[in-house]
Amino acid sequence: YVIGVDLGTSAVKVLLVDQSGAVTAQASAAYPLQQPQPGYSEQNPEDWVSGVKDAIEKLFATSKVAASDIEGLSYSGQMHGLVLLDAAGKVLRPAILWNDTRTTKQSEEIMAKMGDKFLEITRNRPLEGFTLPKILWVKENEPEIFKQAATFVLPKDYVRYRMTGTLNMELSDAAGTVMVDIAKKAWSQEVCDAFDLPMSICPPLVEATDQVGMISADFAKESGLATSTAVFGGGADNACGAIGAGILRPDQAMCSIGTSGVILAYEPDTQADYHGQLHFFNHAVPGRFYSMGVTLAAGYSLSWFKKTFAPEASFNDFVGSASTSTIGAHGLLFAPYIVGERTPYADAKIRGSFIGIDGKQTRADFVRAVLEGIVFSFRDILDIYEANGKNFKQLVSIGGGSKSELWLQIQADIFNKEVVRLESEQGPGMGAAMIAAVGLGWFADFSGCAEKFIAVKKVYQPNPEHVAEYQQLHQIYQQIYPQTKKMTG
Ligand code: XUL
Repeated sequence: YVIGVDLGTSAVKVLLVDQSGAVTAQASAAYPLQQPQPGYSEQNPEDWVSGVKDAIEKLFATSKVAASDIEGLSYSGQMHGLVLLDAAGKVLRPAILWNDTRTTKQSEEIMAKMGDKFLEITRNRPLEGFTLPKILWVKENEPEIFKQAATFVLPKDYVRYRMTGTLNMELSDAAGTVMVDIAKKAWSQEVCDAFDLPMSICPPLVEATDQVGMISADFAKESGLATSTAVFGGGADNACGAIGAGILRPDQAMCSIGTSGVILAYEPDTQADYHGQLHFFNHAVPGRFYSMGVTLAAGYSLSWFKKTFAPEASFNDFVGSASTSTIGAHGLLFAPYIVGERTPYADAKIRGSFIGIDGKQTRADFVRAVLEGIVFSFRDILDIYEANGKNFKQLVSIGGGSKSELWLQIQADIFNKEVVRLESEQGPGMGAAMIAAVGLGWFADFSGCAEKFIAVKKVYQPNPEHVAEYQQLHQIYQQIYPQTKKMTG
């Protein structure tokens, strides 16, 4: 067996997976998110560690498997979160998470100081969510804490440190610090020097499938795991989501709808250049890369609409009601910028819209418009890929968007691509389990593992008539951003 630990923002989920790829047991444990001020988002790293212990205890309670039969364990982690440690490895302040937006000033300073050079080295624009602006914020605002900082890690790397006693940072996650030279797979001296950060704070880098250690005697005692379980580096949640969805070829992309939404593509090398419009990171598949665009409020738009206008409805009935509407929701368009937008606009101030409201429309039309609007925002990301010569054959849909037949067909029609639904979709936790399986040598590579672990349930084909209607609507949708930008300055 292997265990995949998916360290998320609201909870940790653990999956127990056997050699055929079947999930034998799963468990989760939630932890709180602190928002001490508007725009702040923090967590206590100790809560992650006790969450993992709780979830593993629950896993053993629901499964007969002996701890000594678990050969390997690995991780998928929420990205970018800053965990500062002192020389003794003690946490210095609460972790500042990926969705914390206090760092606009620092992000702008990074770009002003390094400009295109920064993009060239890290392959990303400095955004509030990334780790470097968070380090600079602490340096500027909490100098007495920064003085004590000997090193820093990311959420899942901290948890792995506590489980093995060995401290390092895994590359696909390290790329999201925007302090790594992506092509060289090494910390960038130039970036550290530019912001007066000693290289000594950067921990040693490991690859996702590197064995970092074994479960320590202390952690074994506290969790019920065995010291014979090998622990592997793991990966960033988006990298793991892609592996768990079998996205291992350049002609496939992932469409993931969670709170936010992601279109992600496998990149065999660093050749593709999206000029910072898309994120570009090292992959958890050693030696490979991935690019991605993010819609900030994907599932969040739908849950906001439901909570506000249909709190009494069951989620399935609510989404299903959209099938009583038509393509284009009887003239209603929705732009999902309700918390700002990342790709393609990188605009934290823009806000969403309903356009074309008609007295004859029903709530079902509004639900349909929300489902379509989220996919139009993904279409904008696909347009960036296509403008750069990337034409995918298929998109594999995961998360909330893969649970509704109607929404899957909308994706196929708006993308004008085949959209794949998987047989048993387990998200990034499965990617984490696959990292352990490949790390242990159960398979020669990830493709071999995916062949065994992942099966297609259904392929949705684009309907040419729908495609044509949606293409026209998308052109109108694209006018919404420039027109409404005037409202937010
Ligand atoms: C990616 C990002 C989020 C987090 C969520 O850049 O910020 O997708 O990885 O954990």
